[in-house]
Amino acid sequence: MKKGFLVSFEGPDGAGKTSVLEALVPRLQEKVDDAIITTREPGGIAISEKIRDVILDVEHTNMDEKTELLLYIAARRQHLVEKVLPALKAGKLVLVDRFIDSSVAYQGYGRGLDISAIDWLNDYATDGHKPDLTLYFDVPSEIGLDRISKNAEREVNRLDLEALSMHQKVRSGYLKLANQESNRVVTIDASQSLEKVINDAYQVVLSALEKVEK
Ligand code: TYD
Repeated sequence: MKKGFLVSFEGPDGAGKTSVLEALVPRLQEKVDDAIITTREPGGIAISEKIRDVILDVEHTNMDEKTELLLYIAARRQHLVEKVLPALKAGKLVLVDRFIDSSVAYQGYGRGLDISAIDWLNDYATDGHKPDLTLYFDVPSEIGLDRISKNAEREVNRLDLEALSMHQKVRSGYLKLANQESNRVVTIDASQSLEKVINDAYQVVLSALEKVEK
């Protein structure tokens, strides 16, 4: 791996992608010589963590939908230039918990904002950088929401409080996206046991890395 490699982890709430991401690091590190870093959106660095607090504050029920979108985009830009791009330049394997597709799935399909405007904003914020690989963790909304409600350690954020119908729209958006961008996005069945999901994700990342090295 010469130029760095960016993998984004995407999926509806409760898909388990964050646990999978953490479990993958030690397993991948056994196989990969380059350093691995993990990070998340919105957040990952000080400025973007502050923006995250504003977006996800449960008291901000009056936040306008376009304001929400623009805050995610602003957090993305700062995180990319300050953390992701330097890591890629240094040849690292970067695993990011959510990236451009979250805005399309949540603010586009979920909230109903114009998808072409979101694509443009994503492109503007990232200077056209796309992940080398995206793992989409697919889970039916009822199962995802049920997992969230049973996870006592998880902080409940403003978006967790949305209705089931919003979560269903987000999922169908992700499924469309995975279909449209099948060269980059690989769908993983996240309704399986965590162990099985970790295994599937591991195989997908490894085979993508092997292709780059050839
Ligand atoms: P987080 O606690 O990280 O949720 P999860 O563990 O499910 O990733 O909160 C991030 C929330 O922000 C999540 O509900 C998805 C949402 N989100 C968007 O709506 N648009 C975006 O562009 C991003 C990055 C996240």
